[in-house]
Amino acid sequence: MIDWHFDRGDLAKHFLSAFETGITGSLTLFAPRRMGKSEFLLLDLAPLAHQKKYNICYCSFWQLKDNPAKALRHALEEALENQDWRQRLSGYITPSTTLELKGELPGMTVALKKSGPERPTEDDLLAIIDLIRQLSRKRRPSLLLLDEVQHLSTRPEFESLVATLRTEFETHRKKVHVVFTGSSRDGLMRMFRDRKAPMFHASQQIDLPELGSDFVAYMLQCFEQASKVRLSLAAAVRVFADLQKGPALFHHLLKFMLIQGISDISKGYEVFSQVIDIEEDYESVWRELLPVDQAVLQLLAGNLSIGLYTEAARHWLGEKLGVDEVSVPRIQNAIDRLRDEQLIYSAGHSRWAFEDTAFREWVSDHSPADGK
Ligand SMILES: Nc1ncnc2c1ncn2[C@@H]1O[C@H](COP(=O)(O)OP(=O)(O)OP(=O)(O)O)[C@@H](O)[C@H]1O
Ligand SMILES: [Mg+2]
Repeated sequence: MIDWHFDRGDLAKHFLSAFETGITGSLTLFAPRRMGKSEFLLLDLAPLAHQKKYNICYCSFWQLKDNPAKALRHALEEALENQDWRQRLSGYITPSTTLELKGELPGMTVALKKSGPERPTEDDLLAIIDLIRQLSRKRRPSLLLLDEVQHLSTRPEFESLVATLRTEFETHRKKVHVVFTGSSRDGLMRMFRDRKAPMFHASQQIDLPELGSDFVAYMLQCFEQASKVRLSLAAAVRVFADLQKGPALFHHLLKFMLIQGISDISKGYEVFSQVIDIEEDYESVWRELLPVDQAVLQLLAGNLSIGLYTEAARHWLGEKLGVDEVSVPRIQNAIDRLRDEQLIYSAGHSRWAFEDTAFREWVSDHSPADGK
């Protein structure tokens, strides 16, 4: 079996040594969608922590989006049952090609029921407190890997869970280390800034380093093992840059070339772009938005020299929507919704930026509201 995972062991060592030297009890890892956060947690950090005899617990708060407390309770219970961690996490590790394109791993988006966010039950919270305490009493330290933590900032229903975690992590920080990941700068910042949530103040934030040509070279080696074909590194590096240095699509492209028997990466990329709708994600995100939200995104993606709430901007938006002008509260509501959807974040001084720069490019290139 070819191991397509490019090792990020050095970064993993860096994380664990921050815990071991007592510099901090928790770290927060940021990267946009599909850049390799979960792979890093599951395939670099967890194995190293296992070697170092940590008890490991992994939970994605997107697993049960409406009930993150239940997801965490379940993950903690499994960790305490001492089941083999590889087996526990294997469901998250096997990527499926189609899901991967949407940035999801199997089993990660199952909703308990469709009724919307649920306040954690007292029973779940008490269980979580008890389980974290049990972990802290173990001889070995524990490592909690909490993926997509910004999800907890999206609903008031989840505040009690945040408060509980804050207290427990603070109390047990010497024995229970935590790595949070987030794919939304805004969500993370909201959690960091919130005075009621000092657990995140205490957590050091680390940006997941971009992958570079050594990653590309490694992936080409895997490709060569599979096909006996050597691809041009220079051309592959250009394609990788064109894919915004996203490992998911690059990996997908190489698999596509293997299946199609294509041995030239520029050619492969050309065919791939035609056959696979790289932008399918964006298209469907876009379709879900209200017209006013779409128009505001276009304004943000384009030249913002006219501001967001000025007379000129309100007319510009009105023109897009076929009305005279759009009111300030309507623009504000659109901004709130776009933040909630994790499409934009506040870059300070009433500036708004796209969470995903590739989506920004997509919006400005496609100008979809004009035609479609
Ligand atoms: N270190 C790596 N080596 C090889 N491929 C990788 C690596 N990291 C990520 N990938 C590729 O990128 C895909 C997405 O990675 P991953 O699911 O870890 O991203 P993520 O940042 O957690 O995304 P999301 O925000 O959607 O949860 C993987 O399925 C894999 O194809
Ligand atoms: Mg992930």
